[in-house]
Amino acid sequence: MISKGLTPREIVEKLDRHIIGQSDAKRAVAIALRNRWRRQNVPTDLADEISPKNIIMIGPTGVGKTEIARRLAKLDNSPFLKIEASKFTEVGYVGRDVESMIRDLVELSLNMVKSDEQENVRTKAAEIAEEKLLDLLLPPRPKEKMVSDMLNNAEEADEKDQRDEDQAQKTDATREKLRHLLKENKLDNRLVDLEVTETRSGPMIEIFSAAGMEDMGLNVKDMLGSVFPQKKKIKTVKVPEALEILEEEEAQKLIDMDKVTKTALDRVEQSGIIFLDEIDKIVGGDTSHGPDVSREGVQRDLLPIVEGSNVNTRYGMVKTDHILFIAAGAFSSSRPSDLIPELQGRFPIRVELDSLGKEDFIRILTEPNNALVKQYTEMMATEGLKLSFTEEAIASIAEVATVVNERTENIGARRLYTIMETLLDEISFEAPDMQEKEIIINAQCVEEKLNEIIEDEDLSRYIL
Ligand SMILES: Nc1ncnc2c1ncn2[C@@H]1O[C@H](COP(=O)(O)OP(=O)(O)OP(=O)(O)O)[C@@H](O)[C@H]1O
Ligand SMILES: [Mg+2]
Repeated sequence: MISKGLTPREIVEKLDRHIIGQSDAKRAVAIALRNRWRRQNVPTDLADEISPKNIIMIGPTGVGKTEIARRLAKLDNSPFLKIEASKFTEVGYVGRDVESMIRDLVELSLNMVKSDEQENVRTKAAEIAEEKLLDLLLPPRPKEKMVSDMLNNAEEADEKDQRDEDQAQKTDATREKLRHLLKENKLDNRLVDLEVTETRSGPMIEIFSAAGMEDMGLNVKDMLGSVFPQKKKIKTVKVPEALEILEEEEAQKLIDMDKVTKTALDRVEQSGIIFLDEIDKIVGGDTSHGPDVSREGVQRDLLPIVEGSNVNTRYGMVKTDHILFIAAGAFSSSRPSDLIPELQGRFPIRVELDSLGKEDFIRILTEPNNALVKQYTEMMATEGLKLSFTEEAIASIAEVATVVNERTENIGARRLYTIMETLLDEISFEAPDMQEKEIIINAQCVEEKLNEIIEDEDLSRYIL
């Protein structure tokens, strides 16, 4: 099973650990994710007919749209790509064409599957690598008898056989001793000469690749790589690094790349998710000039991919029918209905994210696993400084964020970053030299530090 089969409730619970509020959006993505799993478990002929219900997340800046997608990606083993829609240009213009996202997703999936496989063969690869390293440290003696031996008379040869036998036993014992030393890391400073294949990526190849040829599904590096044969070279490295290199090489040999490619393509087709951020940026303006004219073109180019088509990648054809698309945008100066109708229709589910207020900010500051307050406390702890915040201080920070968001631009939770940075600026600078080793931030500190800035609208626009 590809998906771990989390229930929608479990998915929401996991998202809750990082994102405060926004329950509608969490529900929608949780259902969409569960639907993938459901589809994979219905009879095959029907499964082909069930297409994903793509989602548009609408909400002001800094309220968690991208964060939800980012966390969702980590939950599930699905190949997941986040890309800004504004990066694309219409086919025929200079820039990235929309099909490149499918190619990127394939590349991503391939790496995922490959590293899974590498994990699977790791023990085996490590064993072989160890033997190879021992061979390097103590070259095995040649097994074949030399011609000169045969020419000599039988008696001498027998004697030599006996000597060889003794020698062999001695070598075996030495090898085991070396193995022992190796395992105990006692050889870590020994140097060995290793033959490595140089990865060929000269400047010329880079230029070719940059010219967008990769986007045509051609593997320029491989092509040119076979024109210029791979070069071997001797590298002198310490034992641990040699082991690493050998392990890597052996793992490559043990992995069946055909199988990996097939699995990777399959995963993309069956459970790929593409998060199209900034979809509102490809809404055509009324008086658009220059590059703007191609925005609608980009929307048109997106249609077949979202609906389902075949995209050629360097690893083979990919069917996009079952890839889930989650689009997101602030839609501050436009609406989803400004997208071309055909594209709107391909995103049947709309969820709105709420703008964040004081209570949300208090929770965002303290609750998530990666909450800002936790971040700063841990950072200061590395300086031997015990930093803490009183409840009133946190409420006060949240209040300031709300006020500044109202008075100037509403940038959502991102406001907390600038405020915390301003508030802790002095401590951040002085921490290593401070005499006191415990600092408690209370409401008074917050007011002293920030009030002056808030009072002056220009100043807060500038600093916060
Ligand atoms: N609801 C939330 N709960 C916890 N943290 C949040 C929330 N909303 C935003 N944040 C924090 O604020 C930062 C910005 O949020 P995010 O990147 O999701 O914004 P966005 O909605 O994608 O905005 P934009 O439209 O500008 O891309 C994130 O790093 C995240 O940590
Ligand atoms: Mg975003």
